[in-house]
Amino acid sequence: MARILITSALPYINGIKHLGNLVGSQLPADLHARYMRARGHEVLFICATDEHGTPAELAAAKAGEPVAEYCARMWRVQKDIADGFRLSFDHFGRSSSDRNRRLTQHFAERLSAAGLIDEVMERQVYSKADGRFLPDRYIEGTCPNCGYEKARGDQCENCTKQLDPTDLINPRSAISGSTDLEVRETKHLHLRQSAMRAHLRDWIDTREGWPVLTTSIARKWLDDGEGLQDRSITRDLDWGIPVQKGEKPWPGMEGKVFYVWFDAPIEYIAATAEWADAHGLGEDGWRRWWRADEGAGDVRYTQFMGKDNVPFHTLSFPATLMGSAEPWKLVDYIKSFNYLNYEGGKFSTSSGRGVFMDQALEILPADYWRWWLLSNVPESSDSDFTWESFQNGVNKDLADVLGNFVSRITKFCRSRFGEALPEGGAPGPEEAELAAELSRRLAEYERAMEAIEVRRAAQALRAIWVAGNEYLQRAAPWTKMKESPEEAAMIVRTGLNLVRLYAILSRPFIPDAAGAMLTALGLTENEPWPESAEAALAALPSGHAFTTPDVLFAKLDDERREALEARFAGKG
Ligand code: 2FM
Ligand code: ZN
Repeated sequence: MARILITSALPYINGIKHLGNLVGSQLPADLHARYMRARGHEVLFICATDEHGTPAELAAAKAGEPVAEYCARMWRVQKDIADGFRLSFDHFGRSSSDRNRRLTQHFAERLSAAGLIDEVMERQVYSKADGRFLPDRYIEGTCPNCGYEKARGDQCENCTKQLDPTDLINPRSAISGSTDLEVRETKHLHLRQSAMRAHLRDWIDTREGWPVLTTSIARKWLDDGEGLQDRSITRDLDWGIPVQKGEKPWPGMEGKVFYVWFDAPIEYIAATAEWADAHGLGEDGWRRWWRADEGAGDVRYTQFMGKDNVPFHTLSFPATLMGSAEPWKLVDYIKSFNYLNYEGGKFSTSSGRGVFMDQALEILPADYWRWWLLSNVPESSDSDFTWESFQNGVNKDLADVLGNFVSRITKFCRSRFGEALPEGGAPGPEEAELAAELSRRLAEYERAMEAIEVRRAAQALRAIWVAGNEYLQRAAPWTKMKESPEEAAMIVRTGLNLVRLYAILSRPFIPDAAGAMLTALGLTENEPWPESAEAALAALPSGHAFTTPDVLFAKLDDERREALEARFAGKG
């Protein structure tokens, strides 16, 4: 049994995320956590809301709420939606926690002691109309790289280039729209990432088997130096973690806070401490996951994130951890994702284009979305949500293949033998063939799940469902009832064991439907992972009682699909 630490990129607190955000980190992280738990490993799955920075302040201002209240309210909203999607976090924390404040200030102190922080007079944009500096998203303008007119001060959403507010052409305040701006001097702390370039390069170069998407982004930033400029880790903002050296004030930095991207990844550690606090596990309880000198040496740590987050996780956060000169656990594997588009374009909050997480759950239960999203995850390239493809996934895979199998076998058994597994004879050549095929497919499925190859895993699982349908079709117990009822009974018994096997194997993808299948069979979620396909086909003995479940998956008809297409098309 291994110890497995899993983190998903922390969703910004400002607003409800869309399906692309969900499939780009939290959902595949959940799949991995569920699978690893099912295999008997000790898993700790951590996520949290990312509450600092300009996105939170701007959204709170728009909602007319004090930012702390806004964040508390939105944390609850995001937590409830995460529960609705059955995201099985062991802890869903908040980056505004006291734990994160203390740890972030601790790291700043350590980095300063290591000579890795410079105090620099920066030239920042000041808005006279707003009476304040305009860092990051408080300023908008035209991107100097691609000409996009709504680029923000920290990054261009269009070409993903990292920007400084002073880079923008025709800048304006995002608060008031004022263009009455000037450049003023203000002191900030810079993390000397460039001093760690060689160290980081060695580390990246020795990561074996990492996805090309992850390493290519990291190398690009290392090679063109863009990601390793000595970037500011502080901001002139009210909301955030006050700049301190540990518990002590930092002279000259009064009234400033740490940059959101400095404290957010530290929350992975802090949220683990929040989890330990919530469970009364003490300091050791979280340190054994994070400190190499206190037991974390044998933890396998995997992070999940969208590609835009990769530079922060391959370079900036490791620079913080390494630079502290303390034995913090570094990530072992970074699984990154491309983007999910919506009907050939982008999801857009402002124009109501695309499906957001709360809306999705109002339309259909979580499993429908989980299955489509995971089986179409943007793994090797961007992928596209279309209602047609979603309808296909639901109707063909879930309703026609899995749902139909479960319904057919349970109903047939009920009508001919009653609601208990029938006695029947010994398995024959058809069953041996089925076991051999399942055994191959199961190995494929396990290989893909271990390697976190999500699409491949979904295909293997689907093939396992198909194998059961084909077996039932071939074995046709309904035609054997008269001449050879013993054989028909044995086929039905095998089929009902397949339902159990499907429930266990499908749980990481579709936990609710899997739960319903287990309940129908009078089983709990503690059913163990199969030792072998052959053993699984004989796991439930004759006489074992079951109840016939309701329809597992309803089909999505054309009329409803068209209505949904129109509803989420956006304002144009
Ligand atoms: O891009 C984002 O949505 C960020 N909130 C991710 C932060 S991940 C981690 F570093 F906290
Ligand atoms: Zn751009």
